Amino acid sequence: MIYGIGTDICDIRRIRASLERHGERFAQKILSAAEFAHWQSRSQRWPERGVRYLATRFSAKEAFSKAIGLGMVMPMTWKSCEVSNLSSGKPQIVLHGALKDWFEARSLSAQVSVSDETDYAASFVVVEQQGKP
Ligand SMILES: CC(C)(COP(=O)(O)OP(=O)(O)OC[C@H]1O[C@@H](n2cnc3c(N)ncnc32)[C@H](O)[C@@H]1OP(=O)(O)O)[C@@H](O)C(=O)NCCC(=O)NCCS
Repeated sequence: MIYGIGTDICDIRRIRASLERHGERFAQKILSAAEFAHWQSRSQRWPERGVRYLATRFSAKEAFSKAIGLGMVMPMTWKSCEVSNLSSGKPQIVLHGALKDWFEARSLSAQVSVSDETDYAASFVVVEQQGKP
């Protein structure tokens, strides 16, 4: 059954401004280690792609926090909710630490979709619970 849904719109201009103000520290606060490495390689090739990558991750994490019903409250943290890509490009949620334990204890699974246009990034997350018809 569906446990929760979450959606988020992120203003890419705000992400760009935060990056200009705080530099890498801002990306480090939001991204997991794997995401941060990915962000660095995208940013080195083309800084704007790095900004957009960070914005879609930011919105997907917020959407996930809503789908599980917690918001950005422990055990939900920016870094423990990772959004990676399958080889096809499809995004997937990969959890770490206490958030992973919390999620698995409830037999939950998540699906995520992200999108971006000139000034906005948007995400939608559906969380399902196994064994509850
Ligand atoms: C959920 C959260 C990440 C959204 O933050 P945001 O980017 O500032 O706001 P957005 O515009 O994207 O989303 C706001 C909407 O998220 C929804 N929302 C708030 N808390 C939520 C939760 N725990 N689970 C799911 N959705 C939630 C609400 O519908 C809210 O809109 P509304 O107040 O008009 O109904 C953030 O509000 C949060 O972490 N909340 C939990 C912690 C908190 O502050 N709790 C206060 C309890 S009084």
